[in-house]
This record gives sequence, structure tokens and C-alpha cells, in this order.
Amino acid sequence: VNGKIQIPVVVNVLYRTAAENISDAQIQTQIDVLNKDFNATNSDYGNVPALFATVKANVGISFVLDQIIRKSTTKTSWGTNDAMKKSASGGLNPTSPTTKLNLWACKIGGGILGYAQFPGGSNATDGVVIDSQYFGLSGSASAPYNLGRTGTHEVGHWMSLRHIWGDSNCGTDFINDTPVHNTANYGVPAYPHYSTCTGAPVEMTMNYMDYTDDAGMYMFTVDQKNKMATIFLTGGPRASFGI
Ligand code: ARG
Ligand code: ZN
Ligand code: CA
Repeated sequence: VNGKIQIPVVVNVLYRTAAENISDAQIQTQIDVLNKDFNATNSDYGNVPALFATVKANVGISFVLDQIIRKSTTKTSWGTNDAMKKSASGGLNPTSPTTKLNLWACKIGGGILGYAQFPGGSNATDGVVIDSQYFGLSGSASAPYNLGRTGTHEVGHWMSLRHIWGDSNCGTDFINDTPVHNTANYGVPAYPHYSTCTGAPVEMTMNYMDYTDDAGMYMFTVDQKNKMATIFLTGGPRASFGI
């Protein structure tokens, strides 16, 4: 990886209200957050507890805004069935999904902040959806999810990462250097928060792949970094990015 991976980003904006038609400036703030969080230049990186100092990682992947595509809609919410990714259902098809990361900013509804497609899925639906209310900083972004970390979390999924608690009690995320968690954490948990799983490890609640508030998440690990890097290698599911 070594900071050489650079990913062009296409942002597809679907809007019914003026607030949903997020500004170019707000879109750029999301790109900026991704660049900080994936290059360990986020201002809260230094808050990683000493316990995790040897596993915190600079992922070394950068993002460049390629183009913004806008479309007005009469839909009040899009749900999570990929309708926003298809012009046939009033959405916007992805642009060059095998070589560009497509983001959709739209009203998802149902309290969903965002969702992502893992590597290996259909090109027609590949990318990340982020509710316009939680896209980037400022503008329409609303607390406590107004630091752009929904984007960071979802792009983590898009690069193959699982939730840190493995979506079950004391489940696995298939990452060795993250501790076992009981379940998702919310808010900004006090440190240390102990798991009751085998070994009673201190949970890494500040990992981007937990469910804390945006202010509570500020690190990836070395093994997460390595897993993300492998998808872009020859033979990997995102090798077409030509990195
Ligand atoms: N619930 C979403 C998901 O599972 C995103 C959670 C993002 N968390 C945040 N603090 N922004 O993919
Ligand atoms: Zn998630
Ligand atoms: Ca783990």
C-alpha cells in the first residue's frame, strides 16, 4: 500500500429537498474526512489509548473527487434495496464502478445512516450509500453523526471490513489484532470498556468498524489495513482499480 493507492470518487446526489441537495463544499468535506481517516491524519488519532498503540494503523489509501452527478426526485426515502443505484427506479447508475468508488447521497430513511456493498458483488450496485443528513461535515450533517465517519465506516465495509463485534455476541470480524466484543457499542463509551467474552479484553470501541458516535471512532488496525490492501492486489476482488 504505502500511500500509493488513490481512488477516484464519483458522488451521486439524489435530492427532493434543498437540504438533500448537499453542496459541493459539503461533498468535499466527506472526501477530506476519508483522506484523514485512511491516512492517520485525523485530529483525534492521538487519542488512541496506549493499549492499542502497536496496532493502530495508517491505511495509506487516498481519495480524489472525480465528479458530482445530481438528480432531483420526488421520493421521500430510498430504503436499502439499491433503488438509488438504478436509473430504472429513478436513481443514478454507478459511473465506472470497476475503476471508481461511487457514493450515493440521498434520504435512506428508517434511521439508517448508510450502507455499503462488500467486494465481489455486482458492478451495477457497487459502492456506498450515505444518508444526505450524515454526509460529510457541516451543512446538513447532524450530530452525533456529523464528523463524516459514516463514510469512513461504510468505505471500510466496501474494502471488505466486518463489524468489530462480528454481528453476534462475542463474534468474529476475522481480524486478529482487534479484540472480541460482546456487541455493538453506541455513544462515546468510557475507557476502558471490558468485554465479557473469553479473556475479558478491553474493547476497541474507538475502531471505525464499531457503532459509536462519530466522535467516538478514530482508528483502523494493522490487520484491517492489510485486509483492505489485499482486495486491490492482482487476483483480488478490486484489482480492476489498477493500483
Ligand atoms: N449503521 C451503519 C452501518 O452499519 C453505519 C454506522 C456508522 N456509525 C457512525 N458513527 N457514523 O453500516
Ligand atoms: Zn456497518
Ligand atoms: Ca478480532
